[in-house]
Amino acid sequence: MKLHENFPLKEITTMHLDARCRYLAEYSSIDELRTLLASPFFKEQKSMHIGGGSNLVFTADYDGLLLHSQIKFIATVEETDTAIRLEAGAGVVWDDFVKYCIAHNYYGAENLSGIPGEVGASAVQNIGSYGVEVQEIISCVHCVDMSTGETISFSTPECKYAYRDSIFKNEFAGRYIVTSVEYTLSKTPRFTLTYGPLKELADKPGLTMNDVRNTIINTRNGKLPNPDETGSVGSFFKNPIIPESQFKDLQNAYPAIPHYPAGEGKIKVPAGWLIENAGLKGFGIGGACVYPKQCLVIANMGNATPTDVVALYRHIIGTVANKYGIELHPEANII
Ligand code: EPU
Repeated sequence: MKLHENFPLKEITTMHLDARCRYLAEYSSIDELRTLLASPFFKEQKSMHIGGGSNLVFTADYDGLLLHSQIKFIATVEETDTAIRLEAGAGVVWDDFVKYCIAHNYYGAENLSGIPGEVGASAVQNIGSYGVEVQEIISCVHCVDMSTGETISFSTPECKYAYRDSIFKNEFAGRYIVTSVEYTLSKTPRFTLTYGPLKELADKPGLTMNDVRNTIINTRNGKLPNPDETGSVGSFFKNPIIPESQFKDLQNAYPAIPHYPAGEGKIKVPAGWLIENAGLKGFGIGGACVYPKQCLVIANMGNATPTDVVALYRHIIGTVANKYGIELHPEANII
């Protein structure tokens, strides 16, 4: 296990804000994790588990211990003629897992290409993009109980998945650490091409997963900041889900508003559209700004302070609430 002291959070979070944590512990096995959890050192710290840091906004120094998994493996659990079940360690970079699936002709993860973060967080956050949520391919999630150090596994229904949500963000928060995740992929071609730019691939002869991946990566590159140049956490807000009656009023006022059915008389509206249409495209406070190509993103233009980001996201929430009567909720985890 590696223990770092006074570690710069800039290096382990994609928002690249200037803040530090008191300790960072990186463990490479369940045994190392258990030893750490049982130690007096662990018990006397406040602590928090992180993944790839792509969804975390530290608004100040963290006076405690951050835990980070370096459990990295991909293994076959079970295989039939038509499907394969793979287990991946929580510390595997998510997009490396997607690339592994594509390289081996396992279908199901390709629509989630290019999402930053790690396998562990994929199961906590129920990552989703281009018409697919990771819950559709998750078979079970293996965890360690933080109080006993024992291992425990949860089936997909037990994880209570919803839009960018799971039991690990609610009842189980601070109780279990995800150590690995099992995914079931199809060995026969099976594409989901319902979302925006993927629709035009439907008629392509000999369509491959790399076609899907390349379309997604190009779309993402066109809309989202390059993480090597500009700090961000991808979508800063969730797309709000509102009752149909409220949506009808909104649509009367703004006939062009994009919308998606969200089940049970509910409608999902894009936060990016609400923010742009409220005149906030490119709006900045200090070094933080509403990213002009995708208003759902708050970008660190290089010198944003944690205070800039907090002031900006509060301003966005206030402006959107005043204009539409809709409360935006951060998708990012603000600490
Ligand atoms: N829109 C605007 N202005 C904007 C942004 C979007 O008018 O500034 C409109 C678009 O024209 C489109 C609609 O809003 O009609 C939806 O936009 P987009 O397809 O870009 O998707 P999104 O709803 O903004 C979600 C996810 C993304 C994911 C994309 C593609 C959330 C919070 N975000 O964004 O996820 O990549 O769909 O599936 O659900 C992430 O979580 O970090 C992330 C990037």
